[in-house]
Amino acid sequence: MHSFHTSGDPIADRRFAYAMDYKAQGDLAAAAELVEQTLDCAPRWAAGWYVLGDLREEAGERSKAIEAYRQSLAFDASDVAGAGARLARLGERPADGAMTASHVAALFDEYAPRFEHSLVGDLSYRGPALLKAALSELRQPLAFRRMLDLGCGTGLAGEALQACCAEMIGVDLSQAMLAKAGNKSLYRDLICEDALAFLESQPAASAELVLAADVFVYLGDLQALFNEVARVLEPNGLFAFTAQRHDGPEPFILNHDMRYAHSHAGMETWARTAGLTLLCRNDEWARQDRGIPVPGMVAIFAQ
Ligand SMILES: C[S@@+](CC[C@H](N)C(=O)[O-])C[C@H]1O[C@@H](n2cnc3c(N)ncnc32)[C@H](O)[C@@H]1O
Repeated sequence: MHSFHTSGDPIADRRFAYAMDYKAQGDLAAAAELVEQTLDCAPRWAAGWYVLGDLREEAGERSKAIEAYRQSLAFDASDVAGAGARLARLGERPADGAMTASHVAALFDEYAPRFEHSLVGDLSYRGPALLKAALSELRQPLAFRRMLDLGCGTGLAGEALQACCAEMIGVDLSQAMLAKAGNKSLYRDLICEDALAFLESQPAASAELVLAADVFVYLGDLQALFNEVARVLEPNGLFAFTAQRHDGPEPFILNHDMRYAHSHAGMETWARTAGLTLLCRNDEWARQDRGIPVPGMVAIFAQ
């Protein structure tokens, strides 16, 4: 049986391991040839096709990369590997919905053990601190009855806001990230679900604060989510989030770093349509990439 990490055929797996050695040495052609041999033995292995696409893309062989990503998708429609997003970035699919829940869950299940060290330590992540500072400017004393943390991850936003939230509920696609959050014993409930599906299950006017810290980088069109946030918020409840910013005319793009970036205008249109009012927005970076701040925004809307 093949999975993300194994083709299910020991000989093919060995060949794949050699391919990765060649890749590590920078010999992309030899690596791609060995992955092709792997796929001769395990032709339905979606992750193998994805890696072949990645090697082809890195070598500048665009059409061969596209072909390999398409094969990956054909053998795994849930797209754990993430071929759809790569196709979208190459302009071969619409950007919206290109990043599947299975892919995001697999990404963060893998990332969870080193997430905090990497994000806070290496990437200077400060999303939760920015959100707390922006909320403090608007509300004094800072106190919320029920807070929903969309894409709570390991619970960094919960840690930042625990003192001012009577009850916190975290939702995330990654079981491994939720396990880390659970170790902190901060949240009343931790739910493994897509953020939009979770909101749809919540009663109207049942939360005083909805947070999304660095989560929209995995979502394109946010209209449905904004609509649900507006429904779930109590009157005068707050919706606070950080997002990666782009300044072009599109409401969102799938960036070269494989993250979605959103525009001010896009956010404001979705909010207006949902009946939310902008209270504050600051152009602040929440994360760095190789030492360079990634353009971002911190925004708070009210019900
Ligand atoms: C960069 S991490 C940020 C985690 C946390 N909010 C923080 O500030 O540390 C993004 C998190 O969002 C989660 N995520 C992405 N898309 C999601 C979705 N559609 N529904 C629920 N969680 C999602 C990921 O699994 C991941 O844990």
